[in-house]
Amino acid sequence: MKNIVILISGRGSNLQALLKARLPCRIAAVISNRADAEGLAIAKMHGIPTEVVAHRDYMDRDSFDTALAKIIDGYQPDIIALAGFMRILTATFVTRYHGRLINIHPSLLPAYSGLDTHARALRDGVKIHGCTVHFVTPDLDHGPIIIQAAVPVLRDDTEQALAARVLREEHRIYAQAIRWLCKDKVILNEQGQAKLRHRKQSGFALVSPGLE
Ligand code: GAR
Repeated sequence: MKNIVILISGRGSNLQALLKARLPCRIAAVISNRADAEGLAIAKMHGIPTEVVAHRDYMDRDSFDTALAKIIDGYQPDIIALAGFMRILTATFVTRYHGRLINIHPSLLPAYSGLDTHARALRDGVKIHGCTVHFVTPDLDHGPIIIQAAVPVLRDDTEQALAARVLREEHRIYAQAIRWLCKDKVILNEQGQAKLRHRKQSGFALVSPGLE
């Protein structure tokens, strides 16, 4: 069974969804860069070892990432999943975990990389928004895509309403992506593409707003 380490910075709703999903892997540890991350309590409740590597204790990104890698490597993970981990990682760190480091992002990448994705989507008036699970590469939020979910943006949406609709899908697709990784059904190939070995595909189109 593969080992997975999950990195968080806050609330931990994705972590909770992953715990609920009963993944075919062992969650070896949950690591946070903030001691006050609510997700740490969720991990503890499930008897999962937790660690804090506080970024504020380090002078620069390199020294933080070196300390973080040392803690991660102690758990010998096959997969490292960023679940609301809000630190930019150095190229050295990302390269060390090539093909094993994944992230969930609250937009349909490559649109809306970075922060405030829901507010920016509303401001632009896009009619479809969503979330993405991707392999992490040094190119921030632009690594090879494993799975995405699209949701409609509704007429009277607030940022909170849209965020909640996207988050529900995050919880579903992150579990699916990790399940594929655990079973070697998705790999990052030598051409730098996410290759999926599964047969089911959906030809379903989301039209938003709906046709009349
Ligand atoms: C999630 O929406 C996740 O996609 C986002 O932070 C939130 C964490 O929520 N991640 C990023 O924006 C990474 N760039 P959670 O702590 O409840 O899982």
